[in-house]
Amino acid sequence: MIRLKNEKQINGIRKSCKMLSAMYRELIPLVKPGIQTIDIDMWVRDWIKKAGGRPVFLGYKIKRIEYPAAICISINDEVIHGIPSKRKICEGDLVSLDCGIDLEGFISDQAVSIEAGKVSEEVHKLNVVTNECLYKGIAAVKAGDRLLQISRAVENHAKAHGYGIVREYCGHGVGFALHEDPQVPNYPHGPNPKMTNGMVFAIEPMINIGTGNINVLDDEWTVVTSDEKVSAHWEHTVAIVNGQAEVLTDPLEEVTGGII
Ligand code: MF3
Ligand code: CO
Repeated sequence: MIRLKNEKQINGIRKSCKMLSAMYRELIPLVKPGIQTIDIDMWVRDWIKKAGGRPVFLGYKIKRIEYPAAICISINDEVIHGIPSKRKICEGDLVSLDCGIDLEGFISDQAVSIEAGKVSEEVHKLNVVTNECLYKGIAAVKAGDRLLQISRAVENHAKAHGYGIVREYCGHGVGFALHEDPQVPNYPHGPNPKMTNGMVFAIEPMINIGTGNINVLDDEWTVVTSDEKVSAHWEHTVAIVNGQAEVLTDPLEEVTGGII
């Protein structure tokens, strides 16, 4: 069931989203070669607490095991749900950060892929195209049209560049809970509801240099590409207001290397 949000509720979700983007604006400049990912997680927990929010991912269950951190940090061939650890970020890594905040019961969700130092041309191109996939998806949001139009726009752009699309995970309704209906897949598949004012969802392409095939590691969280090639991930929380997409999270172009 899709739970539509009224104006007041969208205001609450917008506030949560702005808080999350404000956190990223401070965090992203710290994501440099040498930093341990566990230290990023500690920083995030502290920031969210001080800001008066709650990290939604911490303790969240998808299968059996609670997610043990406030942020997902997925490096290179890790697609999503990378668990912070003693691992240090290296020059040339593509570091995907994914985080959500609960502010007064309103949930936000945003992911970015950050280039640590100088990455290869091949990886930079993947990162730019994945970000473009997100914006192609956002451009397809229109009240009265069907949801899978978003999926088609994402898929077309990724395919035009010969990239693999991760099919096992997808975008989702968000706002009252982290994962609500509808599913927003990155290829046209499954239910295809009409988009209407008051819908709030996360669009989040996960795009690979190689095939779209993935495996889940023994920790039951970390999703990696089967061919060990690099994957990128970008995500915004979007509301439909006055028939059109309003991106509630911020683009962060000033800290993500001009990618928009
Ligand atoms: N932002 C992700 C998603 O949209 C990751 C949430 S998984 C969690 O599905 F367990 F870490 F919360
Ligand atoms: Co999400």
